[in-house]
Amino acid sequence: MKKITEKVSWVGKIDWELTSFHGDELSTKKGSSYNSYLIQDTKTALIDTVWLPYDKEFVSKLKQAIDLKKIDYIIMNHNEIDHSGSLPELMREIPNTPIYCTKKGEAIIRGHYHQDWNFVNVKTGDTLELGETTLTFIEAPMLHWPDTMFTYMSGDNILFSNDGFGQHYATESLFNDCVDEAEMMYEAEKYYANILSTYSPMVTRKVNEILKMGLSINMICPSHGVIWRENPTKIVERYLQWANSFAEDQVTIIYDTMWQSTRKMAEAIANGIRKASPSTTVKIYNASKEDKNDILTQAFQSKAILMGSPTINFGLSYAIAGILEMLHGLKLKGKKAAAFGSYGWSGDAPKLISERLAHAGFEVVNDGIKNLWVPNQDALAQCEQFGADFANAL
Ligand code: FEO
Repeated sequence: MKKITEKVSWVGKIDWELTSFHGDELSTKKGSSYNSYLIQDTKTALIDTVWLPYDKEFVSKLKQAIDLKKIDYIIMNHNEIDHSGSLPELMREIPNTPIYCTKKGEAIIRGHYHQDWNFVNVKTGDTLELGETTLTFIEAPMLHWPDTMFTYMSGDNILFSNDGFGQHYATESLFNDCVDEAEMMYEAEKYYANILSTYSPMVTRKVNEILKMGLSINMICPSHGVIWRENPTKIVERYLQWANSFAEDQVTIIYDTMWQSTRKMAEAIANGIRKASPSTTVKIYNASKEDKNDILTQAFQSKAILMGSPTINFGLSYAIAGILEMLHGLKLKGKKAAAFGSYGWSGDAPKLISERLAHAGFEVVNDGIKNLWVPNQDALAQCEQFGADFANAL
């Protein structure tokens, strides 16, 4: 248990060993934390629990902090297993304690744990008096599940935002002003790009709705990573930027290669972009060697991407196909793209990539470029010109 304010304590779990999340969908190279919060006023409320493998440890440590029978309310802001996983272990101890959640939250808890617990459904504007402080619930559907809600605590002026504003970032320092800011902000952006960007229109609507409510916010306490204590509106402003067709002056080239021909094309294209637009940041990634979620984060922050694959059995490399599938899910807006690749006979890859990029919402600006067998100096010069033309089209 770590004190955050006079009334609020962190009772979560830091997971130093977590390397992937959602199966293997999301890499978590910096670990993560499952933040649970205890509010002790005249009444006591617990906000969220921790992931299932840590359920016994969670309940055991909670018992050291408080007589569990003194918990009057459990608030479940979101019920994915990383936050609701310890509910069964906790409810074995205090089976009648009311669980406050959205209607969809109740359905998800019932669907996961098949228990007839004491649910209290709440919606935006509903309140719960704890004594000197009041909790106000704010539904936030699809940030990032249908059940999600935020809980605002008056007095301490804390927004408990669950996954929103979170980062998969394990640290002993609870607060944003106590960590390596650049490292932590990268994890916040990676989290947004990979988990929330699909729902950017809802993010914009919800953040603006909360800003219009005029709540005074001293802290934002998410369910993963650090608490935003110093200048908490900074991450809110970043979310508004990220949700609005975010793009830096960056072009990211993502390729795979069998015998280095597509790699040579990627590097020549990069040279062409740099010559045509020296101020543009150009980054190159081999999709079969680099972390897929870091690649997606780079695509998220780019104004345009180029994707290259050799043609393999009339199709694409599995790594490029995988990135294309994930890009389709992210629904990034306002980005341009083109394709390239080497081939030996059919040469389908650039066309297939272009089709899939268009289907994923990219504006494909040309027909792509392909090269038979290994590119010679003339072919590399054509790739360089292709890169320059692409830069000039942005
Ligand atoms: Fe951190 Fe959507 O669970």
